[in-house]
Amino acid sequence: MKSAKPYIQENKDRFLNELIELLKIPSISADPSYKEDVLKTAEAVKKALENAGCDTVEICETPGYPIVYGEKIIDKTLPTVLVYGHYDVQPPDPLELWDSPPFEPVIKKTKTHPDGAIFARGACDDKGQMYMHVKALEYMTSTNQLPCNVKFMIEGEEEVGSSSLGWFVKRNHEKLTNDIILISDTGMIAKDVPSITTGLRGLSYVEVEVTGPNRDLHSGLYGGAVANPINILAKMIASLHDENNRITIPGFYDKVEELTKAERAKMAEAPFSLENYKNALDIADVYGEKGYTTNERNSIRPTLDVNGIWGGYIGEGAKTVIPSKAYAKISMRLVPNQDWEEITQLFTNHFESIAPRAVKVKVTPHHGGQAYVTPIDFIGYKAAEKAYEKTFGKTPIPQRSGGSIPIVALFEKELKSKTILMGFGLDSDAIHSPNEHYGIWNYLKGIETIPQFFHFFTELKK
Ligand code: BES
Ligand code: MN
Ligand code: MN
Repeated sequence: MKSAKPYIQENKDRFLNELIELLKIPSISADPSYKEDVLKTAEAVKKALENAGCDTVEICETPGYPIVYGEKIIDKTLPTVLVYGHYDVQPPDPLELWDSPPFEPVIKKTKTHPDGAIFARGACDDKGQMYMHVKALEYMTSTNQLPCNVKFMIEGEEEVGSSSLGWFVKRNHEKLTNDIILISDTGMIAKDVPSITTGLRGLSYVEVEVTGPNRDLHSGLYGGAVANPINILAKMIASLHDENNRITIPGFYDKVEELTKAERAKMAEAPFSLENYKNALDIADVYGEKGYTTNERNSIRPTLDVNGIWGGYIGEGAKTVIPSKAYAKISMRLVPNQDWEEITQLFTNHFESIAPRAVKVKVTPHHGGQAYVTPIDFIGYKAAEKAYEKTFGKTPIPQRSGGSIPIVALFEKELKSKTILMGFGLDSDAIHSPNEHYGIWNYLKGIETIPQFFHFFTELKK
């Protein structure tokens, strides 16, 4: 495979402009009022895949948002790479914290991205990273170098739990047969420290509701005599961690995979500066489970976090009220061997059991998924390693990530195929946050590296 560099140089502006057009469509899967835009984005992805050289592209209907499926089969005896990505994005709020509107992409230079970065919701997660694959395909087809078969499966519900994709995968084993799944929806350590993501955490996401009195009450007339559901909820949540920041739910750690000393030592070799980490977040200290490093806490250890909490009066000024209800959204990040449905059950039982009789508690599970770890001694990893060596001039470091792409474990279960996670984002790209961006350098580097993966994977498969 020839270097894609000259082709990228020649087409750079078009590659950027096409992505910018895609980023202008607010494909927010969580908010039903954006339904038309989400569907429009699926159409745009379909066109892009057709233009890039897919032979057939379909919009596959599901109970939820459609899946864009495309393929180019050049020879049935050659290997097949299945590319997965998502065209939906996270809601952009809080809007007031964006320096420019989230769906009006702008290019700005930053310290980390002196060549410029595209600022927009979805720039990195995942439109920018997904689109690298479309442009990599364009490069390979237009220069007659596609070495194997390729399938694309781009979904529109990743940010809300991928339930329709699960539905689709279960019904389309035949259509989706492949030799490896390739995903760019994660990050790398730094621009000069390429890494391959070898693990994703699992997830259990729940919503809790605590009900006190049957209506909001005057906090003077009733205060002190009835349970305030916000006070109670705060207390219950606080009790979910002990003084060592370990989670107190009985059985929570029972199945947690413990890494050996050697594995932990290997992990600790990855370059990391705690000082820079703290500075970047403007925090005086880190915080987490006793006995583990920062990098361990956010990758190989399970967690429990409140993602949102509300109830009572939050308008202007003061209103004296004991609310009837209080709510919280809670996520638990899980590690290999923990089963998300079992953890959801353990959480529910425990949360109900710690509530005083003065309140009622309701736990509603949202979604979840299992953790995933890739071995590093299989062809897929080796091919990715060679690809990075070629384009970065450095051997990439295997790194387990703290994020979740729940569908990856399901791919393995349903399709019996392994996934290779070649992410080109940086932690500082602010995914899910205001001012999300994606470095132009990273975008183009991804387009350059992906064809090399196709080449080495095909070679190693022979
Ligand atoms: N692309 C992210 C996951 C990710 C980002 C993994 C960076 C590793 C590094 C994905 O879109 C995402 O946000 N996943 C959700 C889970 C989903 C069920 C909502 C997550 O991790 O919160
Ligand atoms: Mn993503
Ligand atoms: Mn995301």
